[in-house]
Amino acid sequence: MSDSSSGSVPPHSVPPLSIPPLSIPPLSIPPQWVIEKKRDKEVLSEEEIRGFIAGYTDGSIPDYQMAALAMAIYLNGMTFEETAFLTDAMMRSGELLDTSSLTRPKADKHSTGGIGDKVSLVLGPIAAACGLDVPMISGRGLGITGGTLDKFEAIPGYRTDLSEAEMIKVIQACGCSIVGQTRSLAPADKKLYGLRDVTATVPSIPLITASIMCKKLAEGIDSLVLDVKWGRGAFMKELDQARDLASNMVQVGRSMDKKVSAVITRMDQPLGRSAGNAVEVQESIDCLKGNGPEDLMEVTLALTAEMLVLSEVADSPEAALAQCQAAIDSGAALEKFRHMVELHGGNPAVIDDPTVMTAAQSIEPFAARNAGYVTDVDAEAIGRGVLVLGAGRTRAEDGVDHAVGVSQLVKAGEFVEAGQPLCLVHANPASQLEEAHDWFGKAFSLSDEAPESNASLSLITETLR
Ligand code: URA
Repeated sequence: MSDSSSGSVPPHSVPPLSIPPLSIPPLSIPPQWVIEKKRDKEVLSEEEIRGFIAGYTDGSIPDYQMAALAMAIYLNGMTFEETAFLTDAMMRSGELLDTSSLTRPKADKHSTGGIGDKVSLVLGPIAAACGLDVPMISGRGLGITGGTLDKFEAIPGYRTDLSEAEMIKVIQACGCSIVGQTRSLAPADKKLYGLRDVTATVPSIPLITASIMCKKLAEGIDSLVLDVKWGRGAFMKELDQARDLASNMVQVGRSMDKKVSAVITRMDQPLGRSAGNAVEVQESIDCLKGNGPEDLMEVTLALTAEMLVLSEVADSPEAALAQCQAAIDSGAALEKFRHMVELHGGNPAVIDDPTVMTAAQSIEPFAARNAGYVTDVDAEAIGRGVLVLGAGRTRAEDGVDHAVGVSQLVKAGEFVEAGQPLCLVHANPASQLEEAHDWFGKAFSLSDEAPESNASLSLITETLR
């Protein structure tokens, strides 16, 4: 049952609802002079950054000059002010979502991504049930980390390609809409991210900051919580790198008058007990029914609570956590999920019957050879195994198999008998099952000795407020 009259939003039923891009004066100097300045470690001016990005967006500055500037930024960095101008210029390269018709505080979360990270599916509905409007523009999986859009698309009928106007209508009705990036949102980032990918310029703090923040700030939100992950299964392997990125993004957001905080979380083991697409939808629904795994719930509730505090819907993290828990216990958050799925054209029967999602042809246990205590489950190896099963993609243009993945993963600290499953492997004929098994074989470490109780260690390293 929905919490108001529902049904999916018909495509293109209302005119576009967005704020057009700013018109930026073109560069008054040749682009190579800007590249030269950054090559020589000089600081670029606001006009130079805005003019360069505007020229790259309209095609008057070619890829090779943008690639040269990206490499100069990669090598020589940017000051905080330059990064903020770059973020703003990229945000204004396209339309901004006009959220002025939304009446509740507008907040979102961004994660730098990890294995089994299904937090958005659970957090969006809880935040909506607690009084926020959540316009969440998400991405697809690439490499070993999954993407929120791929997970939602495992639900039959769920449309991730709503127009801005459709998205606003969904949020007005249920408080939350999770969609993909439209062509008109931050087009400079779309072009530049593809270029960075093939010019070895992705791992640069100013470029990552501008890329992530320009898309999130184009959503027209008041508050943003960042989940910056570090560890084996994360983009940032070291804590110091994660801290640098988090603090850069927080400062840039604040300089643009947004309330921003960052929660730095560990990503060494998969989050929750599943990795894939349909299997993660099912686990997310379990979370909303109050049966989520402890690690996943810890991260989800901490991030949602931070959104409530930033939005001044709760006056302390403790009060916010209690509100989130109440939204789960009362069924209000599950109801928001059901309503959002319906409004996106998805089949809401998925909530009570996961078999409406296509299942894999074989679901077999991956068994322990010996008895022992699980001392480690390597997130990266699980991610690689799930990727070769077909749940992820190695190139942006590839499709994914929504049905494959792993479920019922054991956790560090648990004891298994020889022959007991370490996880269930969901595979289809196109899955590279042998290679996947090799990865799963590397992922699990067992020992005769009970590990020190690290299972109870918090995944939350620190919060930057
Ligand atoms: N995610 C993004 O959106 N951009 C980056 O540069 C890195 C991760």
